[in-house]
Amino acid sequence: MSITQSEYIWRDGQMIPWAEATTHVLSHGLHYGTSMFEGIRVYDTPKGPCGFRLRGHVERLFSSAKIYAMEIPFSVDELVNACHETVQINKLTSAYLRPIAYHGYGDIGVSPGPDTPINVAIAAFPWGAYLGEAGRQNGVDVCVSSWRRPAPDTIPMAAKAAGNYLSGFLISREAKNRGFAEGIALDVDGRLSEGAGENLFIVKDGTLFTPPAAASILSGITRDCVIKLAAQMGLQTKEQAMPREMLYVADEVFFTGTAAEITPIRSVDGNPVGEAGCGEITRAIQERFFGLFTGATPDSENWLEPIGSNVVREDAHVSKIAV
Ligand SMILES: Cc1ncc(COP(=O)(O)O)c(C=O)c1O
Repeated sequence: MSITQSEYIWRDGQMIPWAEATTHVLSHGLHYGTSMFEGIRVYDTPKGPCGFRLRGHVERLFSSAKIYAMEIPFSVDELVNACHETVQINKLTSAYLRPIAYHGYGDIGVSPGPDTPINVAIAAFPWGAYLGEAGRQNGVDVCVSSWRRPAPDTIPMAAKAAGNYLSGFLISREAKNRGFAEGIALDVDGRLSEGAGENLFIVKDGTLFTPPAAASILSGITRDCVIKLAAQMGLQTKEQAMPREMLYVADEVFFTGTAAEITPIRSVDGNPVGEAGCGEITRAIQERFFGLFTGATPDSENWLEPIGSNVVREDAHVSKIAV
């Protein structure tokens, strides 16, 4: 899905024009995948544009960085503020935010020395349904990938690090080459893990099942929302290791993610799932989820963060516009 440009990008404390947000070809992150990033959606709601679990995403950026001992030279508050500012300055009412922190230009050794800066940037731009609007409504056809997720003692999948997406790239590209919308990976033990960029849920006999954190997944923020919304609806979720064939006997299967939101899966490896459309429980969870943004679902957990509502502390860094 190609990018629709907006006007400004926040970089290292300054707003700069979109076209100037470039980086040196010898940046460490470009060579070794040493970048941590986030994807955050801003929804147009009756309260105005709202970041969805925005602070939680920024906190996850810091926890990804912590796994790699990467010191981000800004605070959580400062990057939350910068996210708000980037949406505001681009006059966006709904958007996808992409904060990224990366080892920049300075050292070309695998483990960068102290002279290599940690650069931080935040882009905000309009973005539609990741797996297509029709897919979000009626379900997508997926396959189980021949590529497994990395073993837990190889690369930490709990960090949202750029390097992890080489695995996602192979899974997604193989699926598309075979005519599927997305691929599902197994973990090193051959149990279900997740999609290339989505978490996985199975519905069986009225209960939700999802692979656990130990199955080489990114513990998604949308996954957490779905577990909580399902509980509000009286549905239990079991986080447990599952064999591949659970997909073939499931009543319903769906993906969750900031990009994919809640996307039903209508077939796996050519086998229809349930009635081969969006299942009843998936539809009810979708309605509950998207209802957060129309006001139909009460925001009981304060997941919506109105853009501009951030409290800028006196000592906080405020972006300068370099134009
Ligand atoms: C590999 C992977 N798994 C799961 C997810 C879903 O995570 P979240 O719901 O926090 O966006 C994503 C997207 O960020 C992802 O890239």
